[in-house]
Amino acid sequence: MSETVTFDGAAPTGTINFGIGQPSADLLPVDLVRQASEAFFQKAQPLELNYGVTQGDKRFLDSLAGFLSKGYGSPARADELFVTGGNSQALDLVSSVFAKPGDTVFVEEPSYFLAFQIFRDHGLNIVGIPIDEDGLCVESLQRELESHKPAFLYTIPSYHNPGGQSTSAARREQIVALAKERDFLIVADEVYQLLYYYEVPPPAYGTMTASEHVVSLGSFSKILAPGMRLGWIQTSRDLRNELMTSGFVNSGGSINHISSHIVRQTIDNGSLDSHIEKLRDVYHRRVEAMDDALRQHFGDIAEWTRPGGGYFFWLRFEESVDTAPIRESAREVTASFQAGSVFSSKGQLNNFLRLSFAHYSEDDIRKGIARLRPLF
Ligand SMILES: Cc1ncc(COP(=O)(O)O)c(C=O)c1O
Repeated sequence: MSETVTFDGAAPTGTINFGIGQPSADLLPVDLVRQASEAFFQKAQPLELNYGVTQGDKRFLDSLAGFLSKGYGSPARADELFVTGGNSQALDLVSSVFAKPGDTVFVEEPSYFLAFQIFRDHGLNIVGIPIDEDGLCVESLQRELESHKPAFLYTIPSYHNPGGQSTSAARREQIVALAKERDFLIVADEVYQLLYYYEVPPPAYGTMTASEHVVSLGSFSKILAPGMRLGWIQTSRDLRNELMTSGFVNSGGSINHISSHIVRQTIDNGSLDSHIEKLRDVYHRRVEAMDDALRQHFGDIAEWTRPGGGYFFWLRFEESVDTAPIRESAREVTASFQAGSVFSSKGQLNNFLRLSFAHYSEDDIRKGIARLRPLF
């Protein structure tokens, strides 16, 4: 008999919860990971099970550099890469290495709400900078720089969570120029960079490390499996050396060494590339299904822009609508979403909500959107 497996945030059976920003079970590639694990363990030597090299196993970093060179369309160097336990762990690490309690960090308004908690865990003060359809507003950033000296700016440049939009290439360049001029770091969370369903997004910040002011975070969570708990930081060699001064890293060595061995096989045998192609195809159809269903059921009461990648739609309602209490009552219709206010560092954005299209089939997406409409 098969065991029941669950996960944090799982919806009760029969409920369609678009608040879940995680892949659906059919997109978690058990066979691919099994084959990669078998290939690794068949040839593994005992020292592979020792602590790994602090910055990451050289063979993994070489494979990753090749993967990023192709994926980002610009040569990546293994000596500018550092293995992490995914972007959440990387955010915790950069908060401890590149900031100290009491420092200010800039975030986008809205932004990924779980990052707020990581920054607060480190005693950092959060200041929100607005975004629009072209991403982070550079003028607002300039204005806030008049009164703050941030340790870093946290940005989600491509297929924003929750906004869905991407910061334009021109703005990325302006932001890097400002970071150099005003001496702050850009911590770019590029978790959705490779999940594009129409056009290729603007160049990743990971291709701009020569500025010495960019720390780009990447993760295998959205392109392979969140449970691998594996990611990377791409930055200049000097900043990478600073990361290696962390007590946690010094004590434990390479973060998630075994996962890095397994993921290396998936890069080298081409199965990761094929899996990403499959994700692009499936998510493309899910984006279209959600856009269609929204036009049918919400076209008269909400506004949104169809995202070109990532996981999320961000809907805006009239100012008088408060989506948080509506979410509470959504239980009655066995469907749900994330309320906009959780993504605000200022307790605002009540008239917005976020929908993820990653966790459900096209059919369920259509059903769930129809269920939600009577609540509004
Ligand atoms: C913007 C953003 N950053 C980080 C994460 C978490 O990344 P990881 O699984 O690599 O820790 C997510 C997952 O939803 C995310 O949307």
